[in-house]
Formats: sequence, C-alpha cells, structure tokens
Amino acid sequence: MRSETCAKEYGKSSIDTIWCSMKKNIILIGFMGVGKGSTARDFAKTYGIYNIDTDDLIESRTNREIKRIFKKHGEAYFRALEQETADWIEANVKGTLISCGGGFYKVNNIKKLGTVVLLDAPFDWILGRLKNAKNAKTKLAKRPLFSKIKEAKKLYEQRVGEYKKVADEVIDVQSLTQKEILEKIANIAGIND
Ligand code: S3P
Repeated sequence: MRSETCAKEYGKSSIDTIWCSMKKNIILIGFMGVGKGSTARDFAKTYGIYNIDTDDLIESRTNREIKRIFKKHGEAYFRALEQETADWIEANVKGTLISCGGGFYKVNNIKKLGTVVLLDAPFDWILGRLKNAKNAKTKLAKRPLFSKIKEAKKLYEQRVGEYKKVADEVIDVQSLTQKEILEKIANIAGIND
C-alpha cells in the first residue's frame, strides 16, 4: 500500500525506487522541444510517481500519431482533442505529473488541472537541444509545427508571454542541471517538505 508521504523516509518500494505521492497534479507546460517529456520521465523514475503525457493520451485515444492527426484532420481538430483530454484529466487524474503538448496550455480549464509549471528557455537553446539530440530527425519529424524553423520561432514569440501568464511557477531550464530541475519540481510538488 502506498504511503501518503514520500517513501524516501521509509525505504524503498518493490521496484527498488523511492516512492512518493503528490497531493496535486503537476502540469508541465512549455514550448516544443524544451524537454517536458524527458523531464517528466526522469522525475517519475527518480521520485517513484506516475507520469502521463497529453500527446500520448491523444495518440492512444485515437490510435493515431499526432503528425497523422494534423495531416488528416487539421490543427483545430487536434486542439479539440486536447480540450477533451483536459476534461478527462480534470475528472479522473490525481497526484500525477502530466507533461503537455506545447499548445495544451490553451485549454480552458488548465488552472483546474493542477499546479502549472513552465519549463522556460530561449528559442535558440531549444533549437540547439533538438538539433543536437541523438534522434534529431525523428524529434523534428513528429512535430508538424516545427517543420519550418522561421514559423516555429514566430509561434514561440507569440506564446512565450502567454505561457508565463498561465504558469504558477517558472523554471529557467537553461541555467540548471537536470538534477536541479527535478529538485525544483519536487519542491513545488511538496515532495521534499
Ligand atoms: C504542439 C506541440 C507538440 C504536439 C503538437 C502541437 C504545439 O507537443 O502537441 O505537435 O502546438 O506546440 P510537444 O510540445 O511535446 O512537442
């Protein structure tokens, strides 16, 4: 049975990891490629919580890849799926780290889903991170809105202020190590209290 407090104090769980619980969801937002998915996966492994990703939820709900949804039905249809996903999260998900697609912050109930944490970085840093990734080609190909760099930059400029308005907390990822980013999220989640 899972403890209500972080199992760090009590030892290890059966999967040989510390095992924590969070009262509220953490909603990780930010621009495409800033590292929301990898941060969420690292965090889940380090602190022994579950994480889910809104793009993964949409892909499993529709049994279609995001790039296919954009191609076949267009962006407006995808945004409606994001809203449906947000409604489902609001009704069903507790104590979970949720990484979101870059445009998910626009759903009308984002503030009801949990503590909204922005992973923030300059556009050029994000571009460098994507280009230097081992699987750079795949990372760019699966993101239809990153296919033209000039347009992606315009989108970033449109969104950067909006992200900050919606966020309860902002983490400047460029100046931190991955371990420091995880610790910041843990503090926000109340895990290290
Ligand atoms: C999008 C970001 C993507 C994905 C879709 C649209 C956006 O997710 O949801 O391609 O509007 O910024 P990532 O932020 O995980 O790349």
